[in-house]
Amino acid sequence: MSVKVFDTKEVQDLLKAATNVGSQDGGARAKQIVNRLLGDLFKAIDDLDMTPDEIWAGVHYFNKLGQDGEAALLAAGLGLEKYLDIRMDAEDKAAEITGGTPRTIEGPLYVAGAPVRDGVAKIDIDPDDDAGPLVIRGTVTGPDGEPVAGALVECWHANSKGFYSHFDPTGAQSDFNLRGAVGTGSDGKYEFRTLMPVGYGCPPHGATQQLLDVLGRHGNRPAHVHFFVTSNNSRKLTTQINIEGDPLIWDDFAYATREDLIPHVVEKTGGTALGMKTDAYKEIQFDIELTPLIQGKDNQLVHRLRASASA
Ligand code: DHB
Ligand code: FE
Repeated sequence: MSVKVFDTKEVQDLLKAATNVGSQDGGARAKQIVNRLLGDLFKAIDDLDMTPDEIWAGVHYFNKLGQDGEAALLAAGLGLEKYLDIRMDAEDKAAEITGGTPRTIEGPLYVAGAPVRDGVAKIDIDPDDDAGPLVIRGTVTGPDGEPVAGALVECWHANSKGFYSHFDPTGAQSDFNLRGAVGTGSDGKYEFRTLMPVGYGCPPHGATQQLLDVLGRHGNRPAHVHFFVTSNNSRKLTTQINIEGDPLIWDDFAYATREDLIPHVVEKTGGTALGMKTDAYKEIQFDIELTPLIQGKDNQLVHRLRASASA
């Protein structure tokens, strides 16, 4: 039998008491947010007539999510991280900021502290028999189209098993394998000599995959490479490229694919001279255009907990 209690004085008083609104104690913004979210949950329980069994299943799910350390993975998989991008894109549009390489989600697998090289970095430290050589190169330009000197281009990607160093469940990779940082010179150019990544899949027994299973969704991403690009006079760019031809490009469980972020993969020779593992290699040209600071500030810089290591 469906009952409605949300609008009763008893429930409204409970919501106010639980979130301490009306008191001077605690943080005003935190109280505002918790009050709204808890209220929305109470209302949804009423509207959908959620059972106690369903509520306790959800509560215990949060425990598993925390035990698995997967809250940030779930945020990507449920489109929450994409939603933040959609909002930042809309803020840019409203402020009439145009141009620049499109942003896309950071994901939960960045590690700060990769060694910084000048112009070129070879980042495949560990051998990986199943991965072919790949060069990713391009030029960082500013809004004026001029090359940016002194930009820092960071990249990180998975190996041929779809695993990232630092988060590899097999423990097989060394620190900063397939993670690099390059400072640009006056030509604005950067280059990473690396290996072809394979798409990432959520840990099969983790909380994220458990929820995706219930939703009838897969937890896989197409092969991709992440970038942070920072420079003193520009806003930080967080983006990714997808590897052209991957069948999941338009079926990414984290919704990160964008039309302008699928550069061509070109077959090349001459890899031996570059220190690649075979003479034939693949090359991706990915030029990056940064956007200007807004009134001297990066108005969209995102602060979140990130892993770090020392090289
Ligand atoms: C997730 C994994 C990634 O490699 C990524 O880029 C984004 C999200 C995830 O597990 O949620
Ligand atoms: Fe990723």
